[in-house]
Amino acid sequence: MASEPPADPGAFARLLAAVEAVAEPDGFIPWDRYMDTALYADGVGFYARPYSPLGADGDFYTAAHVHPLFAATIGEWVAEVHRTSPRDRPFHLVELGPGDGRLAAGVVAALRQHPEGTAGMTVVLIERSAPLLARAVERVRSEAEASGIPVLTRDSVASLGPFEGVVLANELLDAQPVRRLLRRRNGWVELGVRIHAGGLVPAEGPGARPVPGSPLPAGVAEGTVFEVSPRAEAVVREVADHLVRGRLLVDDYGMEESELLAAHPDGTLAGVRAHRSGWDPLEAAGETDLSAFVNFSRLRAAAHAAGLRLVSDRRQAEALGEWGFPRLLDAAVRTASSPEAEVRLRLAAKSLSFGFERFRILEWEPTSPAPGSDAT
Ligand SMILES: C[S@@+](CC[C@H](N)C(=O)[O-])C[C@H]1O[C@@H](n2cnc3c(N)ncnc32)[C@H](O)[C@@H]1O
Repeated sequence: MASEPPADPGAFARLLAAVEAVAEPDGFIPWDRYMDTALYADGVGFYARPYSPLGADGDFYTAAHVHPLFAATIGEWVAEVHRTSPRDRPFHLVELGPGDGRLAAGVVAALRQHPEGTAGMTVVLIERSAPLLARAVERVRSEAEASGIPVLTRDSVASLGPFEGVVLANELLDAQPVRRLLRRRNGWVELGVRIHAGGLVPAEGPGARPVPGSPLPAGVAEGTVFEVSPRAEAVVREVADHLVRGRLLVDDYGMEESELLAAHPDGTLAGVRAHRSGWDPLEAAGETDLSAFVNFSRLRAAAHAAGLRLVSDRRQAEALGEWGFPRLLDAAVRTASSPEAEVRLRLAAKSLSFGFERFRILEWEPTSPAPGSDAT
């Protein structure tokens, strides 16, 4: 794997101190706790640094950064959910993990083109990174407030209470900390890290904490690494507990559990930096993105148990196709400012259709109103 020393040793020392603070008494740090710190520790975690890791000048592209057509197409879907929602009730457009706000801003721009528009709509941004939240608020407000749409920020979905509308989670779940479990002859053990000689080294815990949600797979070969993200499952549960009418949309990459075990017996954890993958996840901590495939089997089970009904589950390209992507692309091609602009547009469209091959879009709706809500 490629590796290089951290660019900012001061930041690395602060991150190491934050990692040390979450260690067990014997110095072992389970992987999920390490990953949480390396991604989100104030000021020094990958997402919490003063600059954005998203887009051309950052470390990776999300679909929202590839081309505005992505947000425009998601906007078509939101418009349809809004159109079929009761007119006399507040409609929340919630984005979980909006990053720098590109998706939410693009969705609002698309909604303004619709006859029903944005009546009764409030945008809610729930973003864990303070620097990214500031960017998102600025970007989304500049798009929304001219049309009189309020833009709020919240710390959590729960703080909204029962609500109606849509919840978008684009590439949020792969960025949730995962637990890495190694199958030993006598059972599972937790993988993690230890601090050693001023750096981080891989480590094995004495056993494994209990795992909530679906049971762990049985009959797994010794030496297999299995990743679970109770935090990703908790995100879906929290939405299920509060969304009383509308939709949850998750767009992310991953596999079914059986595929993960067969195709990735060493796990899927990836380190990405400066638009290159294959970095050692323990090198340049805080400057390297850490993510893992979403286990769609566990996620759907968690959503089902929490009372959500799966409306659709398909490849990203298929969902975008159904929601008007080809029509929007044709319109954009017709108004391209130059032959070069048209080529760029077609390349972006190709990337959105085929470059995000492992991405799936899952849509859920509540099966029954949350207790105590008046949304019946
Ligand atoms: C990969 S980025 C995706 C950004 C954006 N959705 C996009 O498509 O461009 C993941 C984002 O989710 C945020 N995030 C991660 N966990 C979160 C949580 N539990 N609540 C809110 N935001 C979270 C991160 O800070 C980061 O901005």
